[in-house]
Amino acid sequence: MEFRELADKYNTPYYLYDFEKYKKQFEKIQEAFRGRKSLIAYAIKSNSNLSVVKLFADMGAGADCVSIGEIHRALKVGIPKYKIIFSGVGKRDEEIREALEIGILFINLESKAEMGRVEKIAKELGVVARISVRVNPNIDPQTHPYISTGLHENKFGVDIESAKEIYIHSKNSPHLEPVGVHFHIGSQLTQLDPIREASEKIATLVKHLKVLDIDLKFFDVGGGLGVQYSDEVLIPPYNYAQAILSTLSGLDVTVVLEPGRYLTAEGGYFVTSVLYEKQNSGDKRFVIVDGAMNDLLRPSLYNAFHRIEFIVGEGKKEISEKVSKADIVGPVCESGDFFGKDRYIPTEIEHGDLVIVHTAGAYGFVMSSNYNSRSRPPELAFENGEYRTIRERESFETLIELEEKFI
Ligand code: LLP
Repeated sequence: MEFRELADKYNTPYYLYDFEKYKKQFEKIQEAFRGRKSLIAYAIKSNSNLSVVKLFADMGAGADCVSIGEIHRALKVGIPKYKIIFSGVGKRDEEIREALEIGILFINLESKAEMGRVEKIAKELGVVARISVRVNPNIDPQTHPYISTGLHENKFGVDIESAKEIYIHSKNSPHLEPVGVHFHIGSQLTQLDPIREASEKIATLVKHLKVLDIDLKFFDVGGGLGVQYSDEVLIPPYNYAQAILSTLSGLDVTVVLEPGRYLTAEGGYFVTSVLYEKQNSGDKRFVIVDGAMNDLLRPSLYNAFHRIEFIVGEGKKEISEKVSKADIVGPVCESGDFFGKDRYIPTEIEHGDLVIVHTAGAYGFVMSSNYNSRSRPPELAFENGEYRTIRERESFETLIELEEKFI
């Protein structure tokens, strides 16, 4: 990647997404589920830039959305309504109403209370709401606690017994039509056993429901496939597919997948540059860069590890290969504003050297903010050998535009 040229042209910090890598990731999942009825519903939350969503839309993806805003993003780039799923633990009435009016594929219910709202709104509109139930299989996904969702102690989904009650009620309601089942046990999964176990449990539920004459068509396995941040051993998509499909024998269902991170993380880079270096109390070394936690929050929020690479040497005659330990931190007024701690980085660096934060395409820009009145960075894409802007750097004017008229 031409990080330096892009820095000269667009300034830093910036995000860069390698669309060629994104396409390859999409194809890998497609390939793994070939020969089986399946729908890849891209989890828009991982990277909702319209050009990114369009890239997957053009490859045939549907969309997994968690707000009406995400549904509009999906529609905007041409994802057909019958490939859109609406998930999330707290949907507002207006969002449910709009989703029903649009006529999306199905709404994932996360509680009995929500079923009641959906039924009421569907009745008001005179429509039948296609629903699926997010079942919490109570399985430990063996991932970071903040992104683990499949245990009863989490707020997501309902237990199997409550799910059955929702299905039975829905089956008998003129305004609800149960069409699917959904589970998602966590994100950044690197262990196959919990996935297989969850799939097995849910497949058993589907079989029980069949006996009650409730015939589900969609088996939605959520997202969660892990990616390379550090030295993880990843699950090959083929094995992932086999683990799920092996639990589905005898069932005629379409497998719905909701990958986010797997598609967008690895081809994404956050590029920032060195401002200063300082040494505190003798030997603690800090490198201060121009990007910050407002741009990329994962390290601060989850203590997440991202590989950090330095591109040094611009204008230097000789580059030393020596390294020493340092924290790479941003300019925001918080001690939690860091990208990496105790990293071995080149000893000789200077103002303007580039710092590449890897695997930053998922949950990067989408979780950014304007904290400290910092304008958000631009998003760039690499495709067919060319670079292009897919979102401009925010200006000061855009930062204040919703406030200005009130002063
Ligand atoms: N489906 C459901 C129901 C989800 O809750 C999620 C992610 C996905 C699909 C997509 O999961 P993925 O394939 O991207 O792992 N901000 C956190 C991740 C939060 C994930 C939330 N749910 C992070 O930066 O690690």
